[in-house]
Amino acid sequence: MKNDSLKLKVMLKKIGLGLLAILVVIQFFRIDKENPEAIPRKDFITQTSPPEAIQKLLKNACYDCHSSTTKYPWYSNVAPISWWLKDHVNEGREELNFSNWADYPLKKQIHKMEECWEMIEEGEMPLESYLITHSEAELTTEEKELLIEWFKGLESALAEPTAEDDGLNNGKKWVINNEVTVLVNQIISLLKENRNETDLAKINALGIDIENKLIEIGEAFDGKRNVLDQLNTIHGEVFLSAPNLKTIDNIEDAKSLMLSIEENLNTYSNFFETKKVLELNGEQKWEANPETTEGIEKMLVIISEDVEQGRISHYAAMGERLNIEIKTIFSSCTMKGEGHEQLHLYIMPLVDLCEKLEAVETEDEASVLQKNILKRLNLYSQYFK
Ligand code: HEC
Repeated sequence: MKNDSLKLKVMLKKIGLGLLAILVVIQFFRIDKENPEAIPRKDFITQTSPPEAIQKLLKNACYDCHSSTTKYPWYSNVAPISWWLKDHVNEGREELNFSNWADYPLKKQIHKMEECWEMIEEGEMPLESYLITHSEAELTTEEKELLIEWFKGLESALAEPTAEDDGLNNGKKWVINNEVTVLVNQIISLLKENRNETDLAKINALGIDIENKLIEIGEAFDGKRNVLDQLNTIHGEVFLSAPNLKTIDNIEDAKSLMLSIEENLNTYSNFFETKKVLELNGEQKWEANPETTEGIEKMLVIISEDVEQGRISHYAAMGERLNIEIKTIFSSCTMKGEGHEQLHLYIMPLVDLCEKLEAVETEDEASVLQKNILKRLNLYSQYFK
């Protein structure tokens, strides 16, 4: 009998020591507590400027898991709690990262706002386990209502078409690609050179030249839908009327048309500015890190998959997988200086396209996105190695 209880004690001691040893060993597997880069300009609070009270609630109750500005508590040094915690942060960011708000397409922003007030209304967010150690995140009924009101208000504001009466993009110029600007300036120069032209045949020829440039503009345009809409709002008249120069047979009419086109195009630079363009490093390609090149190759494999008809969810899943690769590329990038900026220029349109694919709603839209993503991915090897 005595012997048995002694055996049991020894055994328990062994188990205890074993557990202790495991606990010690797992402390070496530390979580990565480095936050991803948070660009203040892109942050939800910067973008939507909520009242102070709302800002505080968001930061206290949501930002630890839904932003790139996580503050880790002391026990985040203790495994296995640290793992569990990191998991929440990763999952939380994946669902909604307030730090990347400006990168979300409008549709996604609207959807996320809806989810936000729903989560609070249903008492699902902030996560219950978080409240044990973060009493400041516990929301009173009034605070919940305040947040729900704010999210709902924003949801409907975002869903409304915005009236741009000054023709600008929230007070700033629209960013357009360089090729378009070059072509517009070429048309302006052509018109200037021919201001004193009195030969109708030459003006008709000018009309052909301008029409060709306009076609080139259409092809060169690589920007976003809303920029194109704006280009048409401001200069659509020119696009429609300029080709009339080809057949015009009255010199007075020709002069006044040329003048009105020139005047209209002169306002171009008030509304549009050119973004930096992708270019080579002298004659050479930019040296990217291997992870980036691998990531792009993986994305090429993903985007080239066949999608059966009617499988719209397959496209969304594709978008999700592409976005994961992009995140990996971002987090493993060690490029510096101009090369880094060039990679950024290269990758931002991809980010935009892949986000759109993830939120895609029609098959037509999806297959256009698929083509454009493939095109953009194929461009990589022309500029980077
Ligand atoms: C402790 C971490 C944590 C905190 C704090 C937190 N969340 Fe979350 N949130 C998560 C995780 C993890 C998920 C994904 C899994 C899930 O839906 O439960 C998530 C999911 C969400 C989703 C997506 C839900 C869906 O329908 O898929 C929304 C929206 C959201 N959270 C909003 C909020 C808001 C708003 C706050 C602050 C009031 C908040 N969360 C606070 C961890 C957190």
